[in-house]
Amino acid sequence: MRIKLSNRLQAVARQIPAGLTVADIGTDHGYLPVYLVVNDIAPRVIAADRGKRPLDSAQQLVSLLSLESQIDIRLGDGLSVLKTAEAEVICLAGMGGMAIKEIIAANLPLAKAAKRLVLQPQRNVSAVRRFLAANGFKIVAEDLAEDDGFYYEIIAAEPGMMTLTDDEADFGPLLLAEGHALFRDFLILKEADMTQLLVSMAESNSPDSLRRKQQLEDEISRIGKLIGTL
Ligand SMILES: C[S@@+](CC[C@H](N)C(=O)[O-])C[C@H]1O[C@@H](n2cnc3c(N)ncnc32)[C@H](O)[C@@H]1O
Repeated sequence: MRIKLSNRLQAVARQIPAGLTVADIGTDHGYLPVYLVVNDIAPRVIAADRGKRPLDSAQQLVSLLSLESQIDIRLGDGLSVLKTAEAEVICLAGMGGMAIKEIIAANLPLAKAAKRLVLQPQRNVSAVRRFLAANGFKIVAEDLAEDDGFYYEIIAAEPGMMTLTDDEADFGPLLLAEGHALFRDFLILKEADMTQLLVSMAESNSPDSLRRKQQLEDEISRIGKLIGTL
């Protein structure tokens, strides 16, 4: 059976080196584990979620395709479902950046025992990059994917050291250094979203709103300058 993944999950899958045991934490429907196994990318995947309902749908898909010997379904919170070094690649995709940070921080030694983390935060991506730098991880690859007009940032990190400038934390050290076919469009959309937000706040003049508006103006100007260099 051919599994067609979204561009976002294909980009996540591309960061997973072949032949390694993968843990997909927050697997939901289980599409990524099935794709990895059916395409001989991963010999074994632990597909975990803290929700029983999403895990039931993953279980149904795995049973339908008779992949029980290769995909191990586990119910539980974050990395608590794993033994140390059991997963060589840990994948956290489709969740907020704060949730990703919390999940890794709650079991940092276990996360560091993996060869690679593959992360796709839905938002607060800068906070994830800063967290990685502060906790002994180095970003080794970055990618962008677009689905239906939305852009997604994908980060592969391995144990190691890195320091990040503000621009690197906010826009991605490797996206900045190496460029990407989608990078310019991604920044243009980010700038447009912020401008729209700023316009929607035109009538708000509380001290908090004024502070937020100033932040947005600074961000818009920073992104505009960056776009000008691409
Ligand atoms: C939006 S889905 C993303 C599914 C899939 N990873 C993807 O990228 O398409 C997020 C999933 O993460 C699960 N989740 C959120 N926090 C979690 C946690 N701390 N531990 C395990 N699963 C979690 C949710 O139950 C939900 O099924």
